Amino acid sequence: MATTYVVNGPNLNLLGTREPDVYGQATLADVEKLCRATADRFGWAIEFRQSNHEGELVDWIHEAARAGAVGIVLNAGAYTHTSVAIHDAIAAIKLPVIEVHISNVFAREQMRHHSYVAPVAKASLCGFGIAGYALAINGLAAMTGAAAKS
Ligand code: DQA
Repeated sequence: MATTYVVNGPNLNLLGTREPDVYGQATLADVEKLCRATADRFGWAIEFRQSNHEGELVDWIHEAARAGAVGIVLNAGAYTHTSVAIHDAIAAIKLPVIEVHISNVFAREQMRHHSYVAPVAKASLCGFGIAGYALAINGLAAMTGAAAKS
């Protein structure tokens, strides 16, 4: 079965209680459920991951490529704005990576306006709340020519 990785970075394990005015009330388990339901429309499985550790995110990007995944939906959290290692990991693989942010990072502090992920991502989405994950999976399907199940 074709598989899409959904990789979440630091502090996203706290969704639901973390700054709900910025990130909403939904938990990471709700995000996972949404991703699985969306991927299921295309007959895709989901590998859903979260880590607070940069190197683990790098390892999972490599793993997705080795596993022959369809692509990666990546919310690298704050590492988006700091991590050359994640940039390099994405540049080193051939899979399409879709960058997702729950909040509109461009309407927030200056430090969130630069992304190390964006230049190596196929596409970037921000500001749609957790719906951005579903949009990213749908975008990945459109990009790869996946047909929705009837
Ligand atoms: C985030 C935005 C980042 O700036 C922040 O550090 C996060 C979450 C988002 O989903 O809106 O941890 O990636």
